[in-house]
Amino acid sequence: MTIATEHAFAARTNAILADLQDKGEYKRLQMIEGPMGPTVKLRDYGECLCFCSNNYLGLANHPEVVEAGLQGIRDFGAGTASVRFICGSFSPHERLESRIAQLMDQEASYTFVSCWNANEAIFPTLCDPGDIIISDELNHASIIDGIRLATSIKKGIHKTVYKHADMNSLREKLETARANPDVSGVIWVVTDGVFSMEGDLPPLPEIRALCTEFDALLIVDDSHGTGVMGETGRGVHEHYGMKGAEIDFFTGTLGKALGGGAGGFIAGPKNAIDLIVQRGRPTLFSNALPVTVAYSADKAIEILMREPERVQKLRDNVAKAREGIRKIGFDCLESPTAICPIIVGETSKAISMSKRLLELGVFVIGFGYPVVPEGEARLRVQISAAHESSHIDGLINALSKL
Ligand SMILES: Cc1ncc(COP(=O)(O)O)c(C=O)c1O
Repeated sequence: MTIATEHAFAARTNAILADLQDKGEYKRLQMIEGPMGPTVKLRDYGECLCFCSNNYLGLANHPEVVEAGLQGIRDFGAGTASVRFICGSFSPHERLESRIAQLMDQEASYTFVSCWNANEAIFPTLCDPGDIIISDELNHASIIDGIRLATSIKKGIHKTVYKHADMNSLREKLETARANPDVSGVIWVVTDGVFSMEGDLPPLPEIRALCTEFDALLIVDDSHGTGVMGETGRGVHEHYGMKGAEIDFFTGTLGKALGGGAGGFIAGPKNAIDLIVQRGRPTLFSNALPVTVAYSADKAIEILMREPERVQKLRDNVAKAREGIRKIGFDCLESPTAICPIIVGETSKAISMSKRLLELGVFVIGFGYPVVPEGEARLRVQISAAHESSHIDGLINALSKL
């Protein structure tokens, strides 16, 4: 049975979709007809240079990563058809979690089907009434929703937002929190490791110092930094010469540099991870990470640890691309990350520029409202270690024609 076209729901939905079409903001999903790599085969456009994947280390179609996933399904089948605390944990989950803990320099870790889920688990589970969560204003949507969930599930958890990467603003929020008699519990500070839409970094050493001064706990979601930032790709903390252990908790994804399949994790102190296992709703009521991913992500981390030269190649590619983009007159925020946003203004402009690039054989996505604030639409160029110099030249050449 279908919903009648005159039903209020159908009319409302059609009006929203028509409005998006009218404004030129309607997103069309591109269909990729082969594996992810420096080039991809797109339905309707053929082989294109790919500059919009988070495949930062080029591991998404690495033969060892692919073979590991196949081995996972051969060894364990598709899954246990159960949540983990009932009968859903396989030994490869345990192996992967111990490798993630080692990578992040933390006591323990626990995996989820996505980092979105990890962020929806960490705040509602670890925070309690009387706590306050202080969040950077440009934090990822999954952090924002995780905090919203925590404050709506447990009344009495407070939340506030500090200005993006602004240490005066963070200090002010910490001072206010310490002076607030309703904040009798833990102060939490949370930041992206690499801001996904700006491609910039938080001043992590200063944030750490402020957290220590105010006895606050620090959570870093380094989804775009793990495998990318620092000499050996440990993440944003390594970029700043910090140890992973100086961060209280990490959340992160396995769906970007670390194999690109899917999956997320929380890494932190053993007892906190145990609490997540005992009480986290996404852990208690949702299936485990597919075993294929438990194998392939484990292999991706092994490759990262074995071949730090991939991180160096990514860094060289980022420097070349950023220089090229600037040379042809586009404004690209200065930053060492692999995310190079070119701000263009209106959403419709970003979408039409992205379409023109596709016609030129280059796949770069235009982001607009509501993913970024209105009027700040952008082309987000993302660089990979899998790109060769000629690919980056192709990108710059196509951009110069816009
Ligand atoms: C900072 C950050 N956190 C979380 C996520 C969500 O990751 P996942 O795709 O594993 O849910 C993303 C993905 O874009 C992200 O950029």
